Amino acid sequence: MSLKISVIGTGYLGATHAAAMAELGFEVLGLDVVAEKIDKLRRGEVPMYEPGLEELLRKHVAGLPGSSGRLRFTMDFAEAAAFGDVHFVCVNTPQRHGEYAADMSYVDSAVASLAPHLTRPTLVVGKSTVPVGSADRLAAYLAAHAPAGEAAELAWNPEFLREGFAVDDTLHPDRIVTGVRSARAEELLRQVYATPIADGTPFVVTDFPTAELVKTSANSFLATKISFINAMAEVCEAAGGDVAKLAEAIGHDDRIGRKFLRAGIGFGGGCLPKDIRAFMARAGELGADQALTFLREIDSINMRQRGQMVELARQALGGGSFLGKRVAVLGAAFKPDSDDVRDSPALNVAGQIHLQGGQVTVFDPKGMENARRVFPTLGYADSALEAVRGADVVLHLTEWREFRELDPRELGKVASAQVILDGRNALDPELWRAAGWTYRAMGRPTA
Ligand code: UGA
Repeated sequence: MSLKISVIGTGYLGATHAAAMAELGFEVLGLDVVAEKIDKLRRGEVPMYEPGLEELLRKHVAGLPGSSGRLRFTMDFAEAAAFGDVHFVCVNTPQRHGEYAADMSYVDSAVASLAPHLTRPTLVVGKSTVPVGSADRLAAYLAAHAPAGEAAELAWNPEFLREGFAVDDTLHPDRIVTGVRSARAEELLRQVYATPIADGTPFVVTDFPTAELVKTSANSFLATKISFINAMAEVCEAAGGDVAKLAEAIGHDDRIGRKFLRAGIGFGGGCLPKDIRAFMARAGELGADQALTFLREIDSINMRQRGQMVELARQALGGGSFLGKRVAVLGAAFKPDSDDVRDSPALNVAGQIHLQGGQVTVFDPKGMENARRVFPTLGYADSALEAVRGADVVLHLTEWREFRELDPRELGKVASAQVILDGRNALDPELWRAAGWTYRAMGRPTA
């Protein structure tokens, strides 16, 4: 008999996981405590912009025309507990207010709400990014509070999906990592992931702490790579080198690789920044803080990039104050193909310039609504062209394909001054210079 799967928390991770599980052929019940989210999902609507997710959802949500009917939603923990053989916990773990540590309250409350209803042998699988040691604690909690006792087992199965590629990353992961304590738990997870395993996806079995650490160390490594290349950009800037060429050249070495070596205004979003901070906080609690002091530097190199972009803009405007200057900002999302503006470097730079008196006009293909909510006092335009109209300087801060396809000549006709600062090292300098623009990017020669 095929397994039935419940997914607790239908945000980014949960909505994608639920739809992917239905795509793999399972009956799925998604649960959330926010009624609005559930209503939307039942109509086949996704609360965020994620390429391919809405299509996948519509393909499976029960009651929609032509759907497989395998995916349903509820707000009732008793129903989810009765339904699922395997329960995935996909709620978020944001940074705690005023601290580095992760806020575990959503995970704790999901497990606490589920536990009293677990009356038969079951597997609860944590997917959220948590401080190492959480799985141990939650397993003990389940055993103590579920009527099924020890038979309500826990496993940890971190998620590595990237926003913008969430569907593909979930259906075709580059590895599956499972922290388990029994052969039964491993066997159940092998059944859940039978399709990707058959496709050749490596299946790595570990203990709880290792599974939890795989996730935080992977994100720390990615953050380190980005800050490394941004540090090289600073040195290139001082020495007159070209960081884009440098990244290309070192990237040819397989051991280094070309990916995640794009210098610019650095990393943001709901994961990398808070994950490295939570990791430092947890290492401190464990008495291993020295091992992660380098992450402090990674964090501060990253935050410095935003300030440097502001200074570059100031220089481009003659070095004085931003007062009365018109600044066009292309991009608000923390990365392209996403409408997520959480800790977005682009919005941070736009905000800093605005707070210093600049007249900032922002355009982003998908992130406008979220940006307006976070920063209502910035100016917003309906297109890149409108944002650039009358601008004294143009800042390219999120590397949407749409921005690479802009015609610099057309923009040149409406801009007040033809100066573009590429905060993502993603535009073609030759193209812009040939159209009469002054092109500047961090860590690259001026002409
Ligand atoms: C990240 C990880 O890449 C995922 O593997 C992980 O599952 C996810 O966090 C998570 O923990 O949930 P994501 O936050 O979607 O995924 O974004 P990334 O693609 O990692 O980009 C993060 C930031 O780094 C963006 O602001 C991006 O613009 C920046 N970045 C990326 C650079 O500045 N330079 C680069 O070369 C690459």
